[in-house]
Amino acid sequence: MVPNHETVIILDFGGQYTQLIARRVRELGVYSEIVPFNTTVEEIERKHPRGLILSGGPASVYEEGAPRPDPRTLDMGVPVLGICYGAQLLAYFLGGEVKPSSRREYGYAEVETIAESRLLEGVPSPMKAWMSHGDYLSRPPEGFTITAATDAAIGAVESSERNLYGVQFHPEVAHTPYGKDILRNFLTRICQLRCDWSMASFIETTVEDIRRRVGAGRAVCGLSGGVDSSVAAALVARAIGDRQTCIFVDTGLLRKNEFEEVLEAYRDMGLQVVGVAAGERFLTRLAGVADPERKRKIIGNEFIEVFQEEARRLGEVEFLVQGTLYPDVIESVSVKGPSAVIKSHHNVGGLPEKMHLKLIEPLRELFKDEVRRVGRELGLPEEIVSRHPFPGPGLAVRILGEVTADRVVLLQEADKIVIEELRRADLYDKVWQAFAVLLPVSTVGVMGDNRTYENAIAIRAVESLDGMTADWARLDWDALQRMSSRIVSEVRGVNRVVYDISSKPPSTIEWE
Ligand code: XMP
Repeated sequence: MVPNHETVIILDFGGQYTQLIARRVRELGVYSEIVPFNTTVEEIERKHPRGLILSGGPASVYEEGAPRPDPRTLDMGVPVLGICYGAQLLAYFLGGEVKPSSRREYGYAEVETIAESRLLEGVPSPMKAWMSHGDYLSRPPEGFTITAATDAAIGAVESSERNLYGVQFHPEVAHTPYGKDILRNFLTRICQLRCDWSMASFIETTVEDIRRRVGAGRAVCGLSGGVDSSVAAALVARAIGDRQTCIFVDTGLLRKNEFEEVLEAYRDMGLQVVGVAAGERFLTRLAGVADPERKRKIIGNEFIEVFQEEARRLGEVEFLVQGTLYPDVIESVSVKGPSAVIKSHHNVGGLPEKMHLKLIEPLRELFKDEVRRVGRELGLPEEIVSRHPFPGPGLAVRILGEVTADRVVLLQEADKIVIEELRRADLYDKVWQAFAVLLPVSTVGVMGDNRTYENAIAIRAVESLDGMTADWARLDWDALQRMSSRIVSEVRGVNRVVYDISSKPPSTIEWE
């Protein structure tokens, strides 16, 4: 079936920027998909691509075992843009020459346009561009023109006759300021695309697909309060209405008042949702457990039990709705390389098999920022759409050591202050995640004339694009000061607050 949107396929050679290429192309209004480098031409053709992009990658084209595409890829009659390693592959396949450079070229280069080129039309010359490679294209294949150069090397080549283009630099990164214009030229002038893929058209086709697939059937969805499951549920609700039932489990490990507030927001959204207060069950199972992975397992298993019990009450259900995102999907298809290093957390893995349900994953083509845009387009409340990510095991992985009812309450109070002050300073939407962590140590303090020996709280706030890497947020000192003094004075049992200044890697975002 020919999709009713234009598609560009990106072959992934393990480059660290592969996902960025996909994002840029989508931002330019064309649906793009990443496939492994060795995908056959037949499989690629099934997706009806209007353009192909060969990504960068850490290998050298001559190396043994270097990732190479199906050689027929260049003869599909579809325009091809090779980026960095991808450009070197064009040369390798078509009789040009690639050489190792004496030093790894990494960083800014000045690129000058030296011949007329549809790819480079309208971009200034010289312009700054980002390089990151060990090899360079030393001679273009026959029939190719060198269209741009740096002072040290070839910058871009093309055969406009065969519609094959190669750039040695990375147009997809922000460090190449006119990179987006180059990609736009590729999409509009070379592939001749309309660039009309948008969140509205995504919603329309997805809702239609779900309707067709589910027919007269019924679906169940596990809501977490997070943006992914909420948007997934809202899309399915638009398709099949009340034939979807959502289950929202209070594990007792949510933020303060979160269960009630989010449940109400869901009802306001018109979702048919069952709220299950199961906090005590979770706490009982967690008694005496300090090991983080055991906590995760216990919570995951308990969640499945609670969910199954509730789902059984619904009678005949064939489908399970999940908010899987594109980065989770790429992880399973990508070549081994930096673009594949994504940590995913499968808290409820095994649920579909156990319950013999077919999966509906309406967001499996989207990045997180796109999910948020879909959510807004669907009219979801901002408190849901822009909510910080929250781990499935909840506060259990933020209470170091044993999780007890008292410690949950203590952390909820401290965490509430962190979020309140963050919002007050207008910083909530500027960070990826922020929260409090309860440490398993007691520290000495002094309050009035008395010596105290009480708990320490750590504040964690990070900036990130996708949670895969993160940097600690340089929060405003006054905001930190307010958090600290309020926590110590308002939360009984805390006499010290510290701020976590670790980036990921080497630390993780959560403490456990
Ligand atoms: P880390 O701590 O690995 O976290 O840097 C990366 C992102 O994943 C979230 N996270 C989890 N989410 N189950 C989840 O659903 C988990 O077990 C889990 N552990 C971490 C974390 O909050 C951050 O957004």
